Amino acid sequence: MPVPKAELHLHIEGTLEPELAFALAARNGVELPYADTGTLREAYRFQDLKSFLDLYYALMTVLRTERDFADLADAYLARAAAQGVRHAEIFFDPQAHLARGVGMGTVVEGLWRALGRSEERHGVSTRLIMCFLRDESAESAMATLDAATPYLHRITGVGLDSAEVGHPPRKFREVYEAAAALGLRRVAHAGEEGPPEYITEALDVLGVERVDHGLRCVEEPALVERLVRERVPLTLCPLSNVRLRTVDTLAGHPLPAMLDAGLMCTVNSDDPAYFGGYAGDTFDAVRETLGLAPERLRELARNSFLASFLEDDEERRARYLAEVEAYDFG
Ligand code: ADE
Ligand code: ZN
Repeated sequence: MPVPKAELHLHIEGTLEPELAFALAARNGVELPYADTGTLREAYRFQDLKSFLDLYYALMTVLRTERDFADLADAYLARAAAQGVRHAEIFFDPQAHLARGVGMGTVVEGLWRALGRSEERHGVSTRLIMCFLRDESAESAMATLDAATPYLHRITGVGLDSAEVGHPPRKFREVYEAAAALGLRRVAHAGEEGPPEYITEALDVLGVERVDHGLRCVEEPALVERLVRERVPLTLCPLSNVRLRTVDTLAGHPLPAMLDAGLMCTVNSDDPAYFGGYAGDTFDAVRETLGLAPERLRELARNSFLASFLEDDEERRARYLAEVEAYDFG
């Protein structure tokens, strides 16, 4: 039985497998610049975050209808459930769809068709987190938040993603203030490719409750100390870091040192269709390659639920945590 866990860093568009991309392309009459799924998979060799994002945005053009978003999310939830995910907090990138003429309602209600029945179908509880693209303007982010107003009952929080360097968190101060005023939870990617100062800014300027990636905190001992003291969860994505060359090898990933330092780490899959593994695969890779002790693995699983936005359902969180404590990590 796979480790029971929550997934807190997962871009739903990053779960678009080549087979589904081709099926949706055919359904929607979209031409893909790849002969077949094999040729497409061969393009999954990335130099950095940008080279990945170029393909990620190009491929998601096959997503056009509510049904497409529902099929995408349902396929992810089925895979996640099979790999031990009990709870998933799912990012989506509305600006990437709005720019193509696909409306906010199509995206959110499409995703909701799958999320709304995920508990009964897959045994996975879910939350939805709307991300702003940091390489778009602050005005565009604010317009996106506006466009989401009719759908806020479906959305738990906001996040910040896409090309990091040159787009510091402070650019989005106002939109995060507006999101907080609407009662939305706040997270942001920071310290993936960007410098440790972006992590500090995400905390101090945007008021985030979790940092997505946060990997580069290890370069700043004072920042590590603060993150430990304030118990700020980091949603690490080790397989993503290897594929996007943020770290040289998985064996050299700083996760063990980060846990030893007392950081509240979680492990997640980021864009599993592109990076070679879903949540369970990621846990297995970390276990096998980094040689973490059983109690460290339990800590990672426990942290995933402690860091999740389940404050509105503490009974459920307690149930999940009890499962982690009862699990035999070997
Ligand atoms: N969008 C999808 N995956 C991302 C990542 N790893 N970093 C930034 N933006 C993303
Ligand atoms: Zn991410």
